[in-house]
Amino acid sequence: MKILITGCCGFIGFNISKYLLDKGFKIIGVDNLNDYYNVKIKKERLKEIRKYKNFKFNKLDISNNKQLKKIFVKNKINTVINLAAQAGVRYSIDNPRKYLLSNTVGFYNILENSRIKSIKNLIFASSSSVYGDKSKFPIKETDNLNPKNFYGLTKKNNEEMAETYSNLYKMNICGLRFFTVYGEWGRPDMFMLKYINSKKKFNLFNKGEHYRDFTYIKDVNLIFYKLLKKRLKGYNIFNVCSNNPIKITKIIEKINSYLDKKNMKINKLGLQRADVIKTHGDNKRIKKTLKFRDFTSIDDGILSLIDWYKSKI
Ligand SMILES: NC(=O)c1ccc[n+]([C@@H]2O[C@H](COP(=O)([O-])OP(=O)(O)OC[C@H]3O[C@@H](n4cnc5c(N)ncnc54)[C@H](O)[C@@H]3O)[C@@H](O)[C@H]2O)c1
Repeated sequence: MKILITGCCGFIGFNISKYLLDKGFKIIGVDNLNDYYNVKIKKERLKEIRKYKNFKFNKLDISNNKQLKKIFVKNKINTVINLAAQAGVRYSIDNPRKYLLSNTVGFYNILENSRIKSIKNLIFASSSSVYGDKSKFPIKETDNLNPKNFYGLTKKNNEEMAETYSNLYKMNICGLRFFTVYGEWGRPDMFMLKYINSKKKFNLFNKGEHYRDFTYIKDVNLIFYKLLKKRLKGYNIFNVCSNNPIKITKIIEKINSYLDKKNMKINKLGLQRADVIKTHGDNKRIKKTLKFRDFTSIDDGILSLIDWYKSKI
């Protein structure tokens, strides 16, 4: 099986690429290596996966169809995993165009090239951000979508385009609504690593009163592997979450028990207008479909993340 993975130098794309390369899959990776966060970590991730003979890299932007098309034409790809996107909720307040280009135009290019080349399986990243603020939990896949920010809107739009393509052209497409993924090689712009990396001062929005349904990266790897084996037909959408919301202040306590943060000043701020208060997803659908074992506990996940962090400093 030859798999195209877009966003392979990103947090999730890198982890999945490495996991699948270890299992012997042939992977074509693409990424534009943008500087939304420090490019150094993206290059380090790339260096790791470049060690594999079954990996080939192409630096390109998926919103550039001329470049993307060449990849589909030159390679006998049968599966596409689209993770390239402008991520981040807060950044979308001031930079909506970046989301429109990478997430909407880019994803359209992925869909269209996959259709032309009769790709057997397409899996793409959506987000819990499609739901917006909810009052009833856990959130089910069938609940209404009311994104609160432009990022979530582009993901909702991806889902609509994907479902239409699947119905119209009989394509097998699967969307994954990730809920706050964390773990080794994580994103420095996201809460956990941002806090871990901070030395003296930390801006804590909504005084840390948010709840997030944290999902450990190795569970995500396994979900992708099971999905590749399962080859679901038609259009499918899943929540990918641990069904265990945790308050941000609790996460801070857990991290503090491993790292010396005595001299850190926490600057308690108000709610950021693009942020939702709570995420808590129902994960019955994915568990049942993939016969997935229990999700990793937050304590085990944080411990692995801290071990990795200590090995890097
Ligand atoms: N990490 C999470 O908790 C989370 C939650 C919900 C959804 N997601 C989605 O999962 C996917 C992966 O997220 P991540 O956390 O690994 O983010 P990331 O920013 O670490 O990875 C995205 C990668 O895609 C690349 N990229 C961005 N735009 C591109 C473009 N136009 N062309 C080519 N490459 C491009 C970036 O350089 C980056 O390496 C994204 O679609 C994101 O929206 C992530």
